[in-house]
Amino acid sequence: MKTSNLYEPVSLGNFHLKNRIVLAPMTRGRAGSERVPNEVMAEYYHQRSTAGLLITEATVISKQGIGWIDSPGIYTDEMVEGWQKVTSRTKPTDTPIFLQLWHCGRASHSDFHDGELPVSASAIKLNGDQIHTPLGSKSYETPRPLSLDEIKTTVDDYRKAAINAKAAGFSGVEVHSANGYLINQFLDSKTNHREDQYGGSFDNRFRFLKEVLEAVLEAWTPDQVGVRISPNGVFNDMGGDDFREIYLHVVKELDKFNLCYLHIMDGLAFGFHEKGEPMSLAEFRPLYRGNIIGNCGYTKETAEKRIEEGNADLIAFGRPFITNPDLPERFRNNRPLNPAEDMSLWYTPGSEGYTDYAPFDAPSSVKT
Ligand SMILES: Cc1cc2nc3c(=O)[nH]c(=O)nc-3n(C[C@H](O)[C@H](O)[C@H](O)COP(=O)(O)O)c2cc1C
Repeated sequence: MKTSNLYEPVSLGNFHLKNRIVLAPMTRGRAGSERVPNEVMAEYYHQRSTAGLLITEATVISKQGIGWIDSPGIYTDEMVEGWQKVTSRTKPTDTPIFLQLWHCGRASHSDFHDGELPVSASAIKLNGDQIHTPLGSKSYETPRPLSLDEIKTTVDDYRKAAINAKAAGFSGVEVHSANGYLINQFLDSKTNHREDQYGGSFDNRFRFLKEVLEAVLEAWTPDQVGVRISPNGVFNDMGGDDFREIYLHVVKELDKFNLCYLHIMDGLAFGFHEKGEPMSLAEFRPLYRGNIIGNCGYTKETAEKRIEEGNADLIAFGRPFITNPDLPERFRNNRPLNPAEDMSLWYTPGSEGYTDYAPFDAPSSVKT
């Protein structure tokens, strides 16, 4: 048995965490059209720094990586300075903060790219509802496959973003390989029909993620880098027939990198592609020697159970943290949680539905 409970301090590489509760990465669309982090974002992360580890919202590595309105970036000096506002607020709390590195790939639209098509592993359109662009709600388009030269440039964009994350004062970075974004589009047989060295075999489909990791590891040591995957995920029209085989391969390969952690969205709360039995942490644990973060639909009780049984070292919480900035204290003291928010304020600008949830022991425990 590896562990005991959620509230115990734990070592994560060289980091000493106050507990095993992680703020899951959550896009909140508060960075404005210039994609520069600001004071209200600094307040949001500071409010949640009783977590053992903070993972930021997905943050685009380049202009080409954009696919979401008002999400932050990490590719200009202004963005680096903006993120410094955030990290300077979380640093005194001794809670490490990792920046999630993001390229949307086909989950984007030409409205974000001056009329140019979004890119992906292959020219396969996302079959889904409309996408919100700066010019309104639009249908998805068939993306353009990245050329071999463009793959190199994209890997280089990850390298630069990783260097910028260091300058911005982060403790580490998480490579977003989940939820149907660009790296996931290379891993999944549904979205990768390439016939070159980036498609076909499991090694080839893993190659893009491998090269991104190698680039990121030029700026950071392995114990400062995490990877997030969503083997069961259906979000953004994902789910290949061979999902089990590719993810077993991916996890075995990631094990060789000796990373800070592997973040696995094992829960089915966000849907399941139903291409077979869902994959569980118990299936991955024997293949991966490092720290595993579980996520998706966990409650205090299921999180404690997962840690006790030894299949996860930490659990990330997303939606419960939106309305409960002091989630770890509420869990620890068996306090009631504020109800989850409906989606209406998830991505709206400003502090409403964002930084206006008071901690339990504040004079008002609901929205101020
Ligand atoms: C508003 C919102 C934004 C999200 N944005 C991201 C994101 O930027 N990156 C990511 O990897 N996952 C994102 N997710 C998924 C969450 O990290 C998490 O996996 C999901 O909410 C399930 O965990 P939960 O049941 O604890 O909420 C988002 C989820 C929500 C609700």
